[in-house]
Amino acid sequence: MYKFPEGFFWGAATSGVQSEGSKNQVNKSIWNYWFEKEPKRFSGEIGPDVVCDTYNKFKEDVALMKEINFNSFRTSIQWARLIKDFETGEVCEDAVRFYNEYIDELLKNGVEPIINLYHFDMPSELQEKFGGFESKKVVNLFVLFAQKAFELFGDRVKYWTTFNEPIVPVEGGYLYDFHYPNKKDPKLATQVAYNIILAHAKTVNLYKNMKISGEIGVILNLTPSYSRSNSEEDLKAAYMADLFFNRSFLDPMLKGEFPKDLCEILKEHNLTPETTKEELKEIEKAKVDFLGVNYYVPRRVKAKEKKDEKFNNPEYYFDYYINPDGRFNPYRDNNEIYPVALYDIAKNVQENYGNIPWYLAEIGIAMDLNSEGDVKEDGLIDDTFRTDLMKEHFIQLHRAIEEGSNCFGVHQWTFIDCWSWLNSFKRRYGFYRLDLETGKRIKKKHGVWFAQLAKDNGFEK
Ligand code: FCB
Repeated sequence: MYKFPEGFFWGAATSGVQSEGSKNQVNKSIWNYWFEKEPKRFSGEIGPDVVCDTYNKFKEDVALMKEINFNSFRTSIQWARLIKDFETGEVCEDAVRFYNEYIDELLKNGVEPIINLYHFDMPSELQEKFGGFESKKVVNLFVLFAQKAFELFGDRVKYWTTFNEPIVPVEGGYLYDFHYPNKKDPKLATQVAYNIILAHAKTVNLYKNMKISGEIGVILNLTPSYSRSNSEEDLKAAYMADLFFNRSFLDPMLKGEFPKDLCEILKEHNLTPETTKEELKEIEKAKVDFLGVNYYVPRRVKAKEKKDEKFNNPEYYFDYYINPDGRFNPYRDNNEIYPVALYDIAKNVQENYGNIPWYLAEIGIAMDLNSEGDVKEDGLIDDTFRTDLMKEHFIQLHRAIEEGSNCFGVHQWTFIDCWSWLNSFKRRYGFYRLDLETGKRIKKKHGVWFAQLAKDNGFEK
């Protein structure tokens, strides 16, 4: 039996935009805005208006969490829902009611809420007026939003996170065009990345100053970079990928400092962001209590074959390559399946980041409606494919924990099939299927397996 440490968190993660729906939302996020502008970019032309309708259905949904034995759950508070006036911090009363009732319902049912403050959801007004996180003014407005959230819900929420995958809005919005504002501008990208790190640090420091009982952390997508071979060139390629995609946020957020090599590279390309001494002190001071890690796929890289003329993105330093011996998920663009990466992540956190308490904040296996099939005679959807793969991942995690990794939980992506940005509902990840026509939730077999896992705090080989 693979047993996990006592009190281990078992649950799932989602976010405000992806689950709530926009009913009674006072302000728009860039997702509402972008969908209105360019619906064709979203799979099936489905936007974030209704999604899981958690705004109306949270009570039934918490009951469904209980049914599969969650003891914890992550979602996010939407900035554009909670705050009515961004500059004064005036809150929307209906949003306060909604989040209060939602949080209370979770607690009443023994589900510990982990509340995240930013999941890709810049209010569109702040994006249009000030360029979102391009601007330091917006950094301060974010901290004001965080302060309101701490004041309103900090008596009951004991686990906060500042950002989910903070690098993704930088990649999507400023390098590769999969988030609004769809720019491709490496100079702005580094400024936005820095400003987000600053917003995180100021929020952590504020939380500590407010002396609320609870903990604060951040959730990073840590995708290990594996090199094609042990040649010097390939190893260098992996080093660079790791520097740009992992250490860029890990080092400042966990160690309070930026990797020297990264700073030099940015300088070489004239991409150094504007910083001040006070800000750097703020970043140095901000100590998180825990780390959340999202993991889906490994990154495989090799030495660059043809040099780019100028730096457009980190791929200036490496090429991607497909592992000839890899296993792939046919239901998700042939993404590589590599459970050992989870062990490697755990060891990296243990050995290089002070063995800080961490939890697996997202892991998931994408399938589509076809591969999951129809409801079977037992009333369930058969996603055994998912269970088999999750087991393999959990075995690797268990191995790391046995070796002293300080992991305190697992949240799977996701609870009920939710809306996933440009992919909308194309890929399904949930313990429950969402029937888009009726809004009905239908349990998948994996949910039954997970309920047993959570109950036993472990699983049989
Ligand atoms: C992660 C995001 C999450 C969801 C999953 C599929 O990168 O954090 O919002 O879209 O991917």
